[in-house]
Amino acid sequence: MSDRTYRIAVIPGDGTGPEVVREGLKVLEAAAQASGFKYDTAVFDWGGDRYLRTSAKGGSASGGGETLPPGGLDELRRFDAIYLGAVGHPEVPPGVLERDLLLAIRFGLDQYINLRPVKLYPGVDCPLKDKGPEDIDFVVVRENTEGLYSGMGGFQYKGTPQEVSTQVHMTTRFGAERCVRFAFDLARKRDKKQLHLVAKTNVLTYVHDTWWRAFNEVGDADYPDVRREYAHVDAACMWFVKNPEWFDVIVVENMFGDIITDLGAMIQGGMGIAAGGNINPDGVSMFEPIGGSAPKYTGQGVVCPLAAISAIQMLLEQLGEAEAAARVEAAIVKALTSGRIKSLSAGHMGLSTSEVGDLVAFYI
Ligand code: IPM
Ligand code: MN
Repeated sequence: MSDRTYRIAVIPGDGTGPEVVREGLKVLEAAAQASGFKYDTAVFDWGGDRYLRTSAKGGSASGGGETLPPGGLDELRRFDAIYLGAVGHPEVPPGVLERDLLLAIRFGLDQYINLRPVKLYPGVDCPLKDKGPEDIDFVVVRENTEGLYSGMGGFQYKGTPQEVSTQVHMTTRFGAERCVRFAFDLARKRDKKQLHLVAKTNVLTYVHDTWWRAFNEVGDADYPDVRREYAHVDAACMWFVKNPEWFDVIVVENMFGDIITDLGAMIQGGMGIAAGGNINPDGVSMFEPIGGSAPKYTGQGVVCPLAAISAIQMLLEQLGEAEAAARVEAAIVKALTSGRIKSLSAGHMGLSTSEVGDLVAFYI
């Protein structure tokens, strides 16, 4: 990577994914020219449409359509980063694309961190009364390969009145510890140097005890300079709304992290601006807007591309292009404070998806 030429895999995916990815790539191009790096992209047509197309033809070995094609993970391993639009299609049964495409990549490439900054930019409407950019600036480090997402579990006596179902909250000390370490390292680099563990130790007395001990033992041994705090997940939801300024870095297991980051997205201005990175610090990472495929807005050019553009910023940071990443963030802020974007809500921007992309690219 030292020659500053990067290979980027692009998976536009479903719904509004392709239209916001187009804007992200527009900004990437502007950033490359301004900062002097080079890149190649390869586009993969994975997602709902391909699944439906291939299932009509008889599909994959398992009988369904094709999600992640054979050899797909190995192909992705050859890239420096992956840029994803969205996964989720109204005509594909729920769970199929999520499990066999999105989670398959997260798990298969061992992207064990899901990094989700919650930052309110100037010029963005915040639904919280009396809270501004100085109050909302924290980062959620969500574990991304374990917990309720492990897929362990099953049915017994399915379809009978005695039906039993289980879904295992699979937790390993190894998984909790590597996630906690990543979060401590991040907290150490920030001004507040404070790390919250968010969990539910009073009810999940096994799995969250593992987290609790990993958090405290690693903190005591290696991060005495980082202040440790703890919040139960229900209380954390309350504080996100009441006192978001209390948070700096949060470390949290997978499912709770999924839930609290949607709440986080709302207090930073909505799904139109919230981005995330699926990170393997020693492998290939994947960056995405976290808002999903928004089928009802597909093809109308009305959804906000700033989340996808922020995902490009995170991608550049991961590649080590810190100057370019900072440039993208500054351009987002200029666009937001230009007075030209009326709202970040789909259909209410006052500009089209591509006009917002143009605006950010202009400010690069
Ligand atoms: C997210 C999404 C996914 C998740 C879904 C689509 C499987 O909600 O990235 O937050 O639950 O992780
Ligand atoms: Mn989610």
